[in-house]
Amino acid sequence: MKKIDSFEEYQEQYEKSIENPEQFWSDIADTFNWKKKWEKILDWNFSEPNVNWFKGGKLNITENCLDRHLKTQPNKTAIIWEPNNPNDAHKTVTYKELHEEVNKTANALKNLGVNKGDRVCLYMPMSLELSYTVLACARIGAIHSVVFAGFSAKSLADRINDASCELLITADGFYRGKKYIDLKQIADEALEITPSIKHSLILKHSNMDVTMKQGRDLWFHEQVNYQSTECEATTMDAEDPLFILYTSGSTGTPKGVVHSTGGYMVYAEYSFRNVFQYEENDIYWCTADIGWITGHTYIVYGPLLAGATTVLFEGTPTYPNPGRFWEIVEKLKVNTFYTAPTAIRALQACEIENVTRYNLSSLKTLGSVGEPINEEAWQWYYKHIGKEKCALVDTWWQTETGGIMISPLAGITKEKPTFATYPLPGIQPVLVDEKGNIIEGNNVEGNLCIKFPWPSMIRTTWGDHERCKNTYFSTYKNMYFTGDGCKRDENGMYRITGRVDDVINVSGHRIGTAEVENAINSFEGVVESAVVGYPHDIKGQGIYAYIICEGNIENNETLSQLVRKHITTEIGALAKPDKIQVVSGLPKTRSGKIMRRILRKVAEGNFDSLGDTSTLLDPSVVNEIVEKRDLVG
Ligand code: WT7
Repeated sequence: MKKIDSFEEYQEQYEKSIENPEQFWSDIADTFNWKKKWEKILDWNFSEPNVNWFKGGKLNITENCLDRHLKTQPNKTAIIWEPNNPNDAHKTVTYKELHEEVNKTANALKNLGVNKGDRVCLYMPMSLELSYTVLACARIGAIHSVVFAGFSAKSLADRINDASCELLITADGFYRGKKYIDLKQIADEALEITPSIKHSLILKHSNMDVTMKQGRDLWFHEQVNYQSTECEATTMDAEDPLFILYTSGSTGTPKGVVHSTGGYMVYAEYSFRNVFQYEENDIYWCTADIGWITGHTYIVYGPLLAGATTVLFEGTPTYPNPGRFWEIVEKLKVNTFYTAPTAIRALQACEIENVTRYNLSSLKTLGSVGEPINEEAWQWYYKHIGKEKCALVDTWWQTETGGIMISPLAGITKEKPTFATYPLPGIQPVLVDEKGNIIEGNNVEGNLCIKFPWPSMIRTTWGDHERCKNTYFSTYKNMYFTGDGCKRDENGMYRITGRVDDVINVSGHRIGTAEVENAINSFEGVVESAVVGYPHDIKGQGIYAYIICEGNIENNETLSQLVRKHITTEIGALAKPDKIQVVSGLPKTRSGKIMRRILRKVAEGNFDSLGDTSTLLDPSVVNEIVEKRDLVG
């Protein structure tokens, strides 16, 4: 696949992609290996929604990630695995070896009775085997559902049950920084309430002792090692689901976002090559976890489709010290480095010697993803990491979009700090006002929608198509609504300003306020709660919880600790409220709706502009909330 080489070419391609999307995408899709060519490139409506790309086309994505590279570059390194502990050795896997490992794993899954269309849940450390199992599922047409290994037993069980997964693949445990995560124990707790699970495959990763449940638990190595290194790739329809990935929204429980095979493949490689301007021998490193969409598309699928060398890092930015990222960049001679603003801000707050003691001259391209990047972080990243000579791409996208939607193309698009700049070819963003009218022209602001399908877009939410329709396609007619607010400047560049719904972005992780509220409300003694986001120096946004308790309980540290612990077991540590304030009432309208606008202002410490409170059922609760704000635990 040829990549765009200049801004003029970008503009040309963009025009072409709007004028004739079918021709544009069919030319790109032609660069892949299809078992059978598609009959129709695009067939769609956003009212159901029903979107089909490359209809009738048959393929297997792993043949494109693996087999097609075997002829040209079998001995090229596909993955470099870098362990949590810097004293342990890193491992490299060539395309040939990766092909063999994936096939062995795929054969083991088949042997356990996993068939095309079955769901397999992966709850694993950032290990090589996680990438093998992702691809092994795809090899045999099983649908993978990766659950980030920081989620609680309950969250894991909910996700397994929602998709009725038959197999869970997990590990004994792993270290994240200094902290040991006893994955097997958490998984065991989840498996108490997951009737669909027939087997659990356990990877020996930390070598800690675990108890195996007879008849259910099997060792990964015992099932995989003896398998053949050949496994025929199952023929998939372009629209067959490739994976499910759960994500939080403004209401209810997390949704299983479903991505399909053909369109996702085409867009993953296309966006990877163009945004990062990938060159043949680049070492590419995305620091995300495979448990999130960034890891799916830009650690596993995108780079492997492009035949690149992708780094898979098990650890954290600050262990054993805040120089860890840069030590790895120097050691592996990383050319492209892709991380989240929260990591940049955390490292920016540390001594600059953590950066300057390393040689970062291999770097060519820097990327940012997950949340709006503030000007200070952008400048620091550009100056201290990129030494003012690297391209810096601020990439906006979502779990639902499957791939990067709005971003500079590295070294091609002139950057503007805090702006994701321009849409990729094929992407048609629009800004709309509250009523859904499209706001034309420049120097405007509105809600960000996409008005035309792109290949890697969400197809449905698992088991509940209505929910997909209601969440994304009903707010504005015939448009996909992103949930983000956005500005378009005088040059038509886009700047994402943040969520306009009840979703909080904590360290680049999406957390639905309703989900946290439900979890808090299930804590004994809590009557009601309301959760909002507030600006946080490192995390971008922090979680602020207002809770009403039974009896005359005042704010106290013990209560806050217990609530936090409860959230950790209900959802996972990532959803722990940073601040908890006990209140006797919440500001509600006469119809009983919580006025979050006011709660957000108080959480921000912005008391002077609380706005009109006259429509409140009981305006005095606001005074009480403001007065007691200092007592927050
Ligand atoms: C939400 C999606 C797929 C990326 C990882 C997060 C926010 C993401 C940016 C950016 C401003 C961004 C948006 C979006 N977001 N990237 N470059 N600038 N905001 O995926 O968990 O699905 O979250 O993250 O608010 O809607 P996600």
